[in-house]
Amino acid sequence: MPDPATKAERPILEVEGLVKHYPVNQGVLFRREVGRVKAVDGVNLELRRGETLGIVGESGCGKSTLARLLLAAERPTAGSVRFEGRDIFSLSRRDLRTLRRRIQMVLQDPYSSLNPRMTVGDIVGEPFDIHPDVAPKKERRARVNELLELVGLDPDHVSRYPHQFSGGQRQRVGIARALALRPDVIVCDEPVSALDVSVQAQVMNLLDDLQRELGLSYVFIAHDLAAVRHISDRVAVMYLGKVVETGDQTQIYEHPTHPYTQALLAAVPVPDPDAQGWTEQLTLEGEPPSPIDPPSGCRFRTRCWKARDVCAEEEPALVERDGSGHPSACHFAEETARA
Ligand SMILES: Nc1ncnc2c1ncn2[C@@H]1O[C@H](COP(=O)(O)OP(=O)(O)OP(=O)(O)O)[C@@H](O)[C@H]1O
Ligand code: SF4
Ligand SMILES: [Mg+2]
Repeated sequence: MPDPATKAERPILEVEGLVKHYPVNQGVLFRREVGRVKAVDGVNLELRRGETLGIVGESGCGKSTLARLLLAAERPTAGSVRFEGRDIFSLSRRDLRTLRRRIQMVLQDPYSSLNPRMTVGDIVGEPFDIHPDVAPKKERRARVNELLELVGLDPDHVSRYPHQFSGGQRQRVGIARALALRPDVIVCDEPVSALDVSVQAQVMNLLDDLQRELGLSYVFIAHDLAAVRHISDRVAVMYLGKVVETGDQTQIYEHPTHPYTQALLAAVPVPDPDAQGWTEQLTLEGEPPSPIDPPSGCRFRTRCWKARDVCAEEEPALVERDGSGHPSACHFAEETARA
């Protein structure tokens, strides 16, 4: 939770009008662009210091693309990401190196993200090769041991290889490596999705403890709302490259106003025409449309039970309607999911 005293502080990350389109090319001899995947299509967000921002949406909605943009691993088609007020896409090489130290990533799959031919000690210590200024050579061994202990691994296992660890332990190795350079921000892209449920809770608790101990800020990506419920201070819900609703825990989980969020929660009662009261469960049917050719107006309209003519004509803006700091991109945003 952010310290109330620092609440007015400038957000550590500010995302404005962020767009990433990937060209779709056709033809063997003469490659020509026949379309564009609108992976991220106008995202505004902020990450406050010390908080966890959950980012949730179905597969393909642009979460990982957004994550790569936050790390400056890719350049955007348009828009900006500011880290401590500075646009990360116009940094000098030197400043970009510093940025790469201060923003780290933890990935979903600990199996494929760790080099199987390197010992755990070498994996965790590798960032020091790239940034030798952080730990002088003679201190590295001690630093690696410290990091292993910090994530709950036995430093005696420093010479073991990834395959000698369980999935949960491997994810701890990934976290230790992400912590090596003492970052301020960690972008976690579905860090526990590949793990057993019992292990998921342990890794989530570890991340939570580390956040408190080290004052980290997290962007935490998941494809369902339940997965980020306990860890997030605020949540942004994404659909087809756009953020459709943002709010704090209570706003998103207790009072969602966007039909997509309501459907993801799938627990909001809707009126049953044949009965008095609220009996039906909402379910999200079908797949999201292609991000190459998203629907006109509101992108969710092809799956929305509330859609009307205006939804195909006018794109709803992500705006607060009541000054509550709870914006929702729906022409008919309201708490009750009336059909
Ligand atoms: N390098 C790329 N070139 C072309 N299209 C891409 C590229 N990277 C991602 N895409 C497309 O952009 C869209 C968003 O992908 P992205 O991986 O960001 O989604 P995601 O929300 O992370 O999905 P998942 O939950 O499956 O990880 C998808 O349609 C994907 O196919
Ligand atoms: S704008 Fe229309 S289609 Fe989009 S979520 Fe709201 S009611 Fe549904
Ligand atoms: Mg992804």
